[in-house]
Amino acid sequence: MEDMITVEHVTKTYGGTAALSDVSFTAKPGRVTGFLGPNGAGKSTAMRIICGLAKPDAGRTLINGQPLNTVNNPAAVVGALLDAGAQHDGRTGKEALTLSAIAMGVPRSRVAEIIDVVGLSSKEASRRIGAYSLGMRQRLGIANALLGDPQILILDEPVNGLDPSGIRWMRDLLRGFAQNGGTVLLSSHLLLEIEAIADDLVVIGGGRVVARGAKETLLSGGETQVRAVDMNRMGGVLAGAGYTAHPTSDGKIATNATTLQVGELALTNSIVLTELSASANGGLEDLFFTLTNATAREQSQPSASKPAPNAPAPFAPNQNGGQR
Ligand SMILES: Nc1ncnc2c1ncn2[C@@H]1O[C@H](COP(=O)(O)OP(=O)(O)OP(=O)(O)O)[C@@H](O)[C@H]1O
Ligand SMILES: [Mg+2]
Repeated sequence: MEDMITVEHVTKTYGGTAALSDVSFTAKPGRVTGFLGPNGAGKSTAMRIICGLAKPDAGRTLINGQPLNTVNNPAAVVGALLDAGAQHDGRTGKEALTLSAIAMGVPRSRVAEIIDVVGLSSKEASRRIGAYSLGMRQRLGIANALLGDPQILILDEPVNGLDPSGIRWMRDLLRGFAQNGGTVLLSSHLLLEIEAIADDLVVIGGGRVVARGAKETLLSGGETQVRAVDMNRMGGVLAGAGYTAHPTSDGKIATNATTLQVGELALTNSIVLTELSASANGGLEDLFFTLTNATAREQSQPSASKPAPNAPAPFAPNQNGGQR
């Protein structure tokens, strides 16, 4: 069985509120899977369940096709960074890693090795964790996750607190880990961050998976709609240029060409267009923006009647008596 993470129909409720509703996805070996969602979406909850720190109300999670509690020596299979803040402040980084090494049955020589891998200096490793910066804590957390030389890495917001060179370092480390056949699941609430690292994406909002798949496919999800005087020729020209072309229910053609590409093709083939627009489905970026906005709206005005999504209407007359 290949190293991988499987989440099957997981539901988790806290005090009557669903943190996760019927969540299913996988993370595959050799790939970095980005787990993306706004604050409160359920990312940490899902990761805690995968790592066996919380129990799902329904559904199950598997590691290499097996429930975690039947996996032999789980520390050598799964390395996790779930909360970089939750490390014992009074110990030095080196002491903390040494204790982990003992608990995992890993040779102590591995500690110095891993401190080097994560780019902590020996001076930093001998300092109390309480005096660590957030970025240093993240590096220590990664060291802890890598200590048992696992095949699977589960990292909850590992990039938080890292400076640009730290982010690049993390990206290279995780890419290298995946290139060597490892499985990486990492969460973030920032699309750009995930976009730079991940091969596959799982997008979660309000406890539900709203999109998942290869990053390229998801990011190019937008489509263009066009209406021309000669629809048959327009369709033929698009297909001939290697683009998709499907009739829509309202008599237009939907294509994966951009509006510019369609316009240029129409011009060179002397086709008269009567309509040309980018579809309302603007791909992952729009989807994520909508999710993030919806969350922000719910949190900031819980009882207000819902405005139409994506309708700021800057020129509309103010209809609610001067209230913003
Ligand atoms: N132990 C808990 N007790 C009660 N509610 C919880 C608990 N853990 C999570 N929740 C709730 O579950 C929902 C999902 O939280 P979770 O921490 O998984 O989100 P997240 O996607 O990790 O968010 P963030 O980006 O802020 O880290 C939230 O509404 C949260 O309040
Ligand atoms: Mg979280």
